[in-house]
Amino acid sequence: MSFHTAWQSPSNIALVKYWGKTHPQLPTNPSLSMTLDACRTETSVEIIPGGGKLQVWVDGVDTPSFVPKVAAFFKAIAERHPWTAHFDWRIQTHNTFPHSSGIASSASGMSALALCVVSLAREFQERIPAKDDLREASVLARLGSGSASRSVYGGWVVWGRTPSVPGSNQEWAHPYPDAIDPVFSDFRDTVLLVDVGQKAVSSTVGHGLMNGHPFAEARFATAHDNLAAFQPILSSGDVGSFLALAEREALMLHGLMMASNPPFVLMKPETLAILEKIQNARRDGLEVGFTLDAGANVHVLYPARAEQTVREFVTTSLSTHCKDGACIHDRVGTGPQQLTKPKLLL
Ligand code: PMV
Repeated sequence: MSFHTAWQSPSNIALVKYWGKTHPQLPTNPSLSMTLDACRTETSVEIIPGGGKLQVWVDGVDTPSFVPKVAAFFKAIAERHPWTAHFDWRIQTHNTFPHSSGIASSASGMSALALCVVSLAREFQERIPAKDDLREASVLARLGSGSASRSVYGGWVVWGRTPSVPGSNQEWAHPYPDAIDPVFSDFRDTVLLVDVGQKAVSSTVGHGLMNGHPFAEARFATAHDNLAAFQPILSSGDVGSFLALAEREALMLHGLMMASNPPFVLMKPETLAILEKIQNARRDGLEVGFTLDAGANVHVLYPARAEQTVREFVTTSLSTHCKDGACIHDRVGTGPQQLTKPKLLL
């Protein structure tokens, strides 16, 4: 006898970055993200009564190297979901974007797994501590990977308490509550794959660099200010101000890394070449900007109305800086989808 369920969940890109945390994976500043559409993880889970044994298949291949991360997730959620230890878990996972792309799959992967856990808990009539299933999935996803808390919802999402967003919370993310101009509900993000190798600094190490960082207090205050500054921009549809602020946030994240001890430079020469071209193109009137994650890849941001011109610009001018010319065209998405409702397999 076994039970089966499956979810797919998207990645997200932060416009106000979460960088720095305290135990248990609580953010030292609020963050704001847009949930993506094309970059997703599909996770299918089968459980049988047992003692908590874990097996993980990635793209159909038994992958023991993934087990420690999944085991850490189950350890982190054990207090809220003690029932999970009374089953053996067979987890199959697949990313719609290439593993080697340098795109972090922890947000999509952890949120997909968290959604499977909550669906099964509901099926077994287990106690669900949060007020609704998505909130519970957000809490669990956060315990797996902070940014994953935001992938549980589509559109624009806030995580972390901040005075400018009533109801914002450290433990779970929730949809951005204020008005958003349609231009931002349909925003585009083309990810330019500059460096497809292992991350030079894991996000756990990266967050740790904020402990005792000389600019920590200024950074945390700026994150609150930037989130508040995004509010009138998002409601009014001011794309120019949006792109300028998104770039300041991204460069601040990298500035923090460069000023930490030890310091890290995560941009590559190709990254800088792309950033310069994007800023020049905007000066010349193209509605285009960028944000960065904790790595060398560039997220090219633009409104749907500029899609044709920006795509041409990417093809003719930017993709030459990418690994094998690779990029992924993405956009704001609607959030996770349940692929299989929990069912009993005999
Ligand atoms: O969720 P983590 O621990 O991988 O941290 C993500 C940190 C950034 O991607 C750099 C920023 C963010 O808010 O997603």
